[in-house]
Amino acid sequence: MISSVIGLGKLGFPFALFLASKKQKVICYDSNKKILNDISNLKSPYVEPKTSSYLKKYYKNIHICEDLEYLINKSQISHLVLPTPSLKNNSFSNSFILRVLDKIGSILLKKKNKKHIINITSTVMPESCNIFSKFLSDKGLIKNKDFLITYNPHFIAQGTTIKNLEDPDFILIGSDCKDGKKLISYYDKIYKKKIKISYLNTVEAEIAKISVNSYITTKITFSNFISEICQNTKNVDANKVLKTIGEDHRIGHDYLGVGTKYSGPCFPRDNKALNYFIDGKSKYSLPKYIDKINNEQTNRLIEMINKSLKNKYLKKIGIFGLTYKDKTNIIKDSQSYDLIIKLRKRYQKKINVFDKNVKPSSNFVSTYKLSYFENINLFIKESDLLILMYPNKEIVKKILKSKRKLIIDCWNLIDPNKTRSKIVKLGNYY
Ligand SMILES: NC(=O)c1ccc[n+]([C@@H]2O[C@H](COP(=O)([O-])OP(=O)(O)OC[C@H]3O[C@@H](n4cnc5c(N)ncnc54)[C@H](O)[C@@H]3O)[C@@H](O)[C@H]2O)c1
Repeated sequence: MISSVIGLGKLGFPFALFLASKKQKVICYDSNKKILNDISNLKSPYVEPKTSSYLKKYYKNIHICEDLEYLINKSQISHLVLPTPSLKNNSFSNSFILRVLDKIGSILLKKKNKKHIINITSTVMPESCNIFSKFLSDKGLIKNKDFLITYNPHFIAQGTTIKNLEDPDFILIGSDCKDGKKLISYYDKIYKKKIKISYLNTVEAEIAKISVNSYITTKITFSNFISEICQNTKNVDANKVLKTIGEDHRIGHDYLGVGTKYSGPCFPRDNKALNYFIDGKSKYSLPKYIDKINNEQTNRLIEMINKSLKNKYLKKIGIFGLTYKDKTNIIKDSQSYDLIIKLRKRYQKKINVFDKNVKPSSNFVSTYKLSYFENINLFIKESDLLILMYPNKEIVKKILKSKRKLIIDCWNLIDPNKTRSKIVKLGNYY
């Protein structure tokens, strides 16, 4: 089966490379010509690990195309990895998908031997696939004969996208027709190993997708809740408490540790979308409370910074990490972004920032009066109070060699006995 990928964004492009690495011929299309140019010039448009090396290695299996008609005529399955931006009410917009479906529908109407699998990979609101099928039927196409809509989101995280695609816990397939089972054999051939597949109807799969992320936000929030309780109890280290809780096999250690609020492009929005979907279906909304508690987490950090700044020798604040996690370049709504906005409202002190993944825009730097450092040694030298906003090995090494700094360690990264700086840990009495 020849595959095509429509939408070569932060998920679509690594997914196309993943297919190409599995000896699949992949026809790739995006409306953004710069992305197509970059790929044609063997330049990955993203900082995502492995994308540059995979592009060079598997380019022969990638066919960049600017003609949607060619793509539909030559492929049997199209993965739609288009944006589904959150609307004001926190549900996801289907407008990008509907616009592309409109074009695909017109092409299919002209095509002989139509039977095309339109595999929705974007994260969509529950019941969206029914809307897509009806949309194409209204154009005169016959559902399950001319086209088949399947739902097949992937559980990936920025920074490990290709790794997650290569080694998934399971593959989720939503289909309302027995032909959807073709996707099972499609993935069996790709993985060439036994892989768990959850085969549901489309609405079940749509609910499952956002619920997975919502569950993870619940677990992170539980950790932060325990962390806060411990922090306000003398002689208690939340890291030890959470580690112990995670020993129970029903609970496990993943996402059970001290850390900042959750942020990034997926967790908050999927959790909020589930809250939107709940409307009228359940008396209480768990996602709503999770979101509320999450939004309080930066205030906990601010309190620690407040206490620290009572030491009048600490004049310059240094924020390590601007993105929501290492090896990504997404700053918007990250834990640091939130912290910077709130800190700036309170203090006129110097705020230094460092992140080797991204250079913040000059607008961001000037709006919040930040001093951006490209050199980590200089950044550390110029900061008195350092706040570690995501786990990273390089900063740990540097802190171990530092002295006379005050470090707020949000992720339990530093052994206080191994450095001459003072370490204050989130989740410890302070
Ligand atoms: N990025 C992630 O970590 C991630 C994880 C899980 C799920 N998702 C979901 O995957 C979907 C895509 O996310 P993303 O992060 O890759 O988005 P993105 O914005 O990075 O990429 C979307 C791509 O679609 C292209 N596009 C827009 N309109 C188009 C059109 N009419 N024709 C062809 N191409 C068009 C854009 O140019 C862009 O390259 C979303 O629904 C998102 O929720 C993303």
